[in-house]
Parts: sequence; structure tokens; C-alpha cells
Amino acid sequence: MNNPNGPMYFKGIYHLFYQYNPEAAIWENIEWAHSISRDLINWKSLKSAIFPSKPFDINGCWSGSATVLPGFKPVILYTGIDSQNRQVQNYAIPANLADPLLTEWVKPDNNPIVEPGTEVNASAFRDPSTAWLSFNGQWKTIIGGRSEQTGMAYLYRSKDFLNWTKAEQPLHSVPNTGMWECPDFYPVARFGRFGLDASVTGNWVKHVLKVSLDLTRYDYYTVGKYYPTTDKYVPDNTSADGWNGLRYDYGNFYASKSFYDPMRKRRVLWGWANESDSVQDDVSKGWAGIQAIPRTVWLDPNGKQLLQWPVMELNRLRRRRVMMIHQKLVMGQNVEIKGITAAQADVEVIFSFSSLDKAETFDPSWVDAQAVCSQLGSTTQGGVGPFGLLTLASENLEEFTPVFFRIFKAETNKHVVLMCSDARSSSLKDGLYKPTFAGFVDIDLSSKKLPLRSLIDHSVIESFGGGGKTCITSRVYPTKAVFEDAHLHVFNNGTEPITVEYLGAWSMRSACVN
Ligand code: FRU
Repeated sequence: MNNPNGPMYFKGIYHLFYQYNPEAAIWENIEWAHSISRDLINWKSLKSAIFPSKPFDINGCWSGSATVLPGFKPVILYTGIDSQNRQVQNYAIPANLADPLLTEWVKPDNNPIVEPGTEVNASAFRDPSTAWLSFNGQWKTIIGGRSEQTGMAYLYRSKDFLNWTKAEQPLHSVPNTGMWECPDFYPVARFGRFGLDASVTGNWVKHVLKVSLDLTRYDYYTVGKYYPTTDKYVPDNTSADGWNGLRYDYGNFYASKSFYDPMRKRRVLWGWANESDSVQDDVSKGWAGIQAIPRTVWLDPNGKQLLQWPVMELNRLRRRRVMMIHQKLVMGQNVEIKGITAAQADVEVIFSFSSLDKAETFDPSWVDAQAVCSQLGSTTQGGVGPFGLLTLASENLEEFTPVFFRIFKAETNKHVVLMCSDARSSSLKDGLYKPTFAGFVDIDLSSKKLPLRSLIDHSVIESFGGGGKTCITSRVYPTKAVFEDAHLHVFNNGTEPITVEYLGAWSMRSACVN
């Protein structure tokens, strides 16, 4: 599987579609597989909803989104690879709206409804977003594209959802960013955690534009202002617009898509974490690609970035909890958390320190968190940190994936927090991609506390630093630290003693998946 597609809530059921090859664990023969759930955690798979069958999608049913039209009428917009190998935009509708499972989908014969035409590059024109309804009754959607090396979100308008007209100007574009895949555009409340339907506008909201840059394979977003009358999106000047911008996740998380859940009034984000093992490994395991745990997203009260947190329904998989309270960790100390299934666990921890005096000086040329992290790692002694978790550790630590922080002193009274998830030591196996992923955490340290949550599930570790300010997903393939032989530790390799104020670690039940 690859990208999540068309997530939506419809009459008591969550639907997730995803890019899927029914024939093999490699990317080919792409269709829309379909799964349903009542809680976003336990899933049942139905038959594929959309698969190549017509001239307008005979070479592939690529990504797209769902929009629920007034009167509870879902419509899917997706990219078809047509008989001339062009990327065209199609729609599909449920065959029977009375079926709450929406098992059967129809692709009407008036497809495609959007063609690239002469001005648009037909091989860089895909992944329509969820549409939003404007004050004047017009529907709008964006489609990812590239013109020369300028990445862009083409804007289309329609009165009836069938006849779409390309706007003169894209919603937004940025030179030298290459193809924009899977654009997502949605409002967020300036304050509060509740989510908003795609069509909400007003002074009390900001907008988020996310694009998946195919050159780096990461999802970048900006927070900004949307002007519905001119259909322009202007990012705030608080983060870079492009490569060096904010990321949903500083690890393996791509082609994500969000949706508004009217049931729980939240915006939920789905992302794909691909494999980091070899194609041959994928073929022998018979599967490749996972969807990360869905996350609730909302605007940080500082207005500059999003916050993300695993959906609360995940907690229902929690079984036995073990706790650690007020555990001091001096330099070089490493304490095992015993009594849980460390290969399948949810860990929440709050670290504290008494002073930042020992923090090392931050070199202002260190703009690339990943480079700093690869240089310093988890074992080189520091001042405040490195401290954190050793996940998926083998008994004698031949294998472990550290998820950790290191705090630096910048200009007067300012500190820089680095968060890392380092796969270099994750496995003794060769032929794996073992990156050091890292991001900075823009957090106020006046409370002298730093929280971390990690979801550990055999070959994936999803970590949320600073209460969801910085997220990192790693895919790892230990050979020894598996099942009952996996261990979990807390560690500190900095000279400043660190206290584990609180740690709760839960053994997790397996979700029903298909
Ligand atoms: C992103 C992507 C999309 C496309 C799909 C094809 O990973 O390339 O742009 O629709 O995957 O599977």
C-alpha cells in the first residue's frame, strides 16, 4: 500500500481508501482499496472501491479525496491514468447511498471531468483535494502540479461538481520545489483543539497548505491566510515555504491527507510510512507499506505550527501499565522498563532537569537537525542530554533505536531543543535504510520539563515530542529485539542529571486489521 486516499466519516462509519496493488508487494496496478472502521483503530477491509476499467483510468487509479456534499452525498475525486497515459481527474459516487458501508462505487461515463488541456503538463497533474464550498455557492478544489520546476496547487471551480474551470492563478506556487503531490488545504481554529470542515472561513481561522514534495519524499506545510474572494493563499512569515519548511513528521511519513470528523469535531491526519527494507524483503514478507496511527491535528496556540496527537481511540488498545516515578538518571545511566511487551507498546514520559547551565553552545550554522543528530548521536556525552528512550533494544544492546533529546544554549536565555530518532543502531541486518531522523522542538522550557510519547509496534516507532510539536516516525527491522526479546530503557548520556518525573508504559493489544 501507499498513500491514504479519501478518508471520511459517513453515517457512523469511518472510511479509508488507499493506494494498493492487489497483485504483489511492489508499486504497480494501482487501485483504491477500501477499509471501514467505527473507531479509527480496528478495521475491516471491503472489496476495492475503484479499480482501472475505463479508458479514463485504465492505467491506474491514483490518489484523490472525498467530499461529502450537502444531503450526505459523498463524492470521490481521483486521478486516473488514461489510455494515453495522461493524468486526468475523475469522479466516483456510491452506487447505493442507503448502504452505510458504501461498498459499491460507480464511475459515471461523463468522466474525466478535468483534463490537463494544453497549458498543463499531463504527467504532473494529480491528486485532487477535498473540495470546499465558497460563500458564492462555488465549489473549489486544488490539484497538485509542476510547471518547469515550480511546484503548484492548481485551483479549479465548479457550480455543480461536474463542470470544473481552471482559475487563472494557482492557489499557491513556489519556484524550485518540483512536483507537488497530494496537496491538502484546510482551516484550523486560531485557538482550541476542535477541527473545522474544509469550507469554514473567517477571521478566527487560519489555513494550512500541505504539499508532498516528491524530490525529498517529505510532507511540508505552512500556516497562512486564505482570501476566498481572490482565491489566494498567503503563508504567514513564520516558517519557510518550501524545502526548509515545517514538516508534519521529520521521519518516514508521506502523501498524507486529513479529513474533518464531524462526530468528534476534530481534524484527523493520515500518513503513509513506507518500508525501509529492500524490495526483495518486501516480496518475501508479502506486504509493504503501512498507514501511521491517525493523528488529531490542531493549531499550536503560538499560531506558528500545528500540534499532533494520536487519536484518543488508540488508548483502548492499552492493557497493562507499568510506571516509573521520580527516577533520577545520572550521566551514563540506563534503566530498563520491565513488565511490558516492549515490541508493542505505548510509552508516555515526562523528563525534567533542574538547570540548563550545562547546555552546550548551539552553533548557529546548524540549520539541518538531521546532520547535527548524525554527528552527535545518542552515545556521545553532552551537557543536557542526550536523554530519552531506547526502544526495540536487544538484551545486550546490539540493537536499539534511541528516541531522544539534546538541549543547547543559543543566544541569551534562548535554548534549542533537538529531537532524534536514530535507526543506525536499529538492526544487525544489512541492506536496510537506517536513517538518523531529527527535528527541532520549538518549546518553552521554563517549566524545566520535556514530554515524549512513543508508539512502538515491531517495525515502526512513532514519536511525539513536546506534546506533539515535533513528530518522528522510523521504520526499523531488528533481528534480535523482536517479540518477547525486545526491551525498553530510559537513558541519559549528558552531565546534567535528568529525572523521569513520570513514565507510563502500556502493553498494547493488537488492533483488528482486516
Ligand atoms: C504519491 C503519489 C501520488 C500518486 C500516487 C500513485 O506517493 O505519487 O502523487 O497519486 O502516489 O500511487
